[in-house]
Amino acid sequence: MRTRSRITLRRALVSALLLTTSAALPLPAQTTPSRPVPNKQLASRELNAKVDALLRKMTLEEKIGQLVQFSAGFATGPGSEGKNQRFDEMVEKGQVGSFLNVVGADATNHYQHIAMEKSRLHIPILFGLDVIHGHRTTFPIPLAVAASFDPAMGELVARTGAEEARADGVPWVFSPMVDIARDARWGRIIESNGEDPFLSSAMARAWVRGYQQGDLSKPESVAVSVKHYAAYGAAIAGRDYNATDMSQITLRQVYLKPYQAAVEEGAATLMSSFNSINGVPATANPLTLDKILRKEWGFDGFVVSDWGAVGELINHSIGDGPTVARKALTAGVEMDMEGNLYGTTIAAQVRSGKISESVIDEAARRVLRVKFALGLFEHPFAQPSAPYQPTDEKRARTRKVADESIVLLKNDPVEAAGTLLPLKDKNKTVALIGPMADDQADLLGAWAAGDPKYVVTLRKALEEKLGADHVLFAQGCGLLNGQDAQIWAKNGGPQPVADENATINEAVEAAKKADVALVALGEPAGFMEGEAGSRVNLGFTGNQQKLLEDVVATGKPVILLVAAGRPLEIKWAAEHVPAILEAWSPGHEAGHAIVDILSGDVNPSAKLPASLPRAVGQEPLYYAQMPTGRPARNADLSHMPANSEEKYLSRYVDEQNSALFPFGWGLSYTTFGYSNPTVDRASIPVREVMASGHKSLVKVGVDVRNTGSVAGTEVVQLYMRIPNVSVEQPLRELKGFTRVTLNPGESKHVEFPIGFDEMNFYNVDLRQVVEPTTYDLWVGGSSLADAHTTLKVVE
Ligand code: BGC
Repeated sequence: MRTRSRITLRRALVSALLLTTSAALPLPAQTTPSRPVPNKQLASRELNAKVDALLRKMTLEEKIGQLVQFSAGFATGPGSEGKNQRFDEMVEKGQVGSFLNVVGADATNHYQHIAMEKSRLHIPILFGLDVIHGHRTTFPIPLAVAASFDPAMGELVARTGAEEARADGVPWVFSPMVDIARDARWGRIIESNGEDPFLSSAMARAWVRGYQQGDLSKPESVAVSVKHYAAYGAAIAGRDYNATDMSQITLRQVYLKPYQAAVEEGAATLMSSFNSINGVPATANPLTLDKILRKEWGFDGFVVSDWGAVGELINHSIGDGPTVARKALTAGVEMDMEGNLYGTTIAAQVRSGKISESVIDEAARRVLRVKFALGLFEHPFAQPSAPYQPTDEKRARTRKVADESIVLLKNDPVEAAGTLLPLKDKNKTVALIGPMADDQADLLGAWAAGDPKYVVTLRKALEEKLGADHVLFAQGCGLLNGQDAQIWAKNGGPQPVADENATINEAVEAAKKADVALVALGEPAGFMEGEAGSRVNLGFTGNQQKLLEDVVATGKPVILLVAAGRPLEIKWAAEHVPAILEAWSPGHEAGHAIVDILSGDVNPSAKLPASLPRAVGQEPLYYAQMPTGRPARNADLSHMPANSEEKYLSRYVDEQNSALFPFGWGLSYTTFGYSNPTVDRASIPVREVMASGHKSLVKVGVDVRNTGSVAGTEVVQLYMRIPNVSVEQPLRELKGFTRVTLNPGESKHVEFPIGFDEMNFYNVDLRQVVEPTTYDLWVGGSSLADAHTTLKVVE
């Protein structure tokens, strides 16, 4: 399938630190809360007694076998071809603890029967798989799910994926991906929750709850592998697999936050990342893997390397095969994915005394804990299941998530006619134009296991809604042209459009005959998005920009629909097209969900989880900017225009600093008003905040009113700034969000509880502290929120 081809696939805890007194502010001893155990199942005495009893029977080789994973199915990385022949024998000898990419009852049971019936100790194999946005039923990409600002949606996607994966013999998923992604050049932004640690942490928790169901032994729950630990999303220059380099404050305060949230939620496993962090590869990094993950967060699960990442440490130049294997294992990577360096080099190093056998015992213990917790010893086999068919119920789930994920970026009035959206008159004729209008695979999105044949295209859904005679379809052009299109075709993509001048002309003619043109453009999901999908150009690919400009030139009103896995550069469109929707890659119910929004059957409520740039040169672009001594802002706080004559400011001379559409942005068919921002306590002592643990102490309130004429849902957002403290803090940070549904004229009082978790920051000693100052708080419908109040934190 094209979407899985090689080219495509590419706690707390207030930690002990937090409670450590800062020199200036000694804390009373009674404020030290005990650290909660993140996953009670993995920590249980009974389970660990079973693990230890088994460990006592195991030979060194059998223990090491538990740390070895191979891909015995399709490849999701380089170099796995031709190894499959010996797997039966290896399983029988206890030399493999896990396989990835083995799916379905027949395939998984094949190996499981050998493990359970022929291997000496009958230890079940743990099958792992990438379940990224659903398994058989394909949901919108994770970035789109994050746009819902609705953790219930993340939980639903994960729960459905868990049910389907488990039915397919897979009790372990390589998901959720919680890397903070602030650079749209990086293709893997599609798998992320975007740029913000608060939103990402909330979504990370939700996905973990959905997959693990709070109980790994349930027949329909799966263990997660939270990836890619750590800071992979900060790859320098947005180039995949590249190094990352950042202060430990940024690492802890921004990049590690969602992992910590996932661990607090009980994540059973993590996956180490390909990148180095400040010069130390993440796959052999004692700071992140041992000190932070195990000692500070109390993680009891195990860490699997990313594909071949242990072997790639040789390229990172930290040693030869045996050395890198030792470094990875002793740092805290228990399982070697698709590398076999553990299988071939560790035993000798234990015998020679280079590695203590206790390291192997601890690593095997961690892997076996997860196998016991999942109930694999009691229920190792998958039951044969009927071939997948999307049921109405499954379709309703994915349509609901897609409905909540489509962002209305712009909806300007078009002269006397008012706004183009929602489409009002059923009898109007719509020219449906563009390569995303009738394309199943690309609307499905990158890294989707679901079958594209189940995708409802926009064309199909629009024809259902308006009647085929009211839809004039003309593709106009392909997603790619020239050599790119040839390469893609060779790798399972569509055949290039032969003469795009002619097909663009057809589209222009269709627009002229219609009342309104709906232009659906995007990015080839299977080719340019996801792993190894970094780009330096973020405009529309192929001839799509020309197609859009030619259609706009007809003078007909145009609605632009963007279906892409990353923020694209759409400045021209934002200046020339009155109505723009960001649909991302919506999955199986793509067309129905887009038409729900176009028609107004569903009032859009989604918000951007990542800023849309004006120009690619702004990347990495995110709203939570740090202060500068030379801010490029006008007196009214708007950003300087590009042609300003003011120099020596922190600005680009040829473009504005601000995003084209900022984080948290998204319109509705109604409007919302904000008033009376308040705090229920005007001031609070530092000492009280420091001692409060996870408790909320103050409520930030605001009245939100539907000031328009239709019912709608608003994502109400709380932003904070902590000025005048020992370490500079961002100009704004998200600290709360909630979805509120209001009828026309209705208003509600919304409250955000805040406490230590929201108010602390890392000081130069890497301690989480609160210092006396006046906090700024803003509440509103985007990161431009302007209903302002303050909270004093006093000595
Ligand atoms: C990716 C991971 C994935 C693994 C297994 C790697 O190439 O980076 O996200 O889980 O392959 O397929």
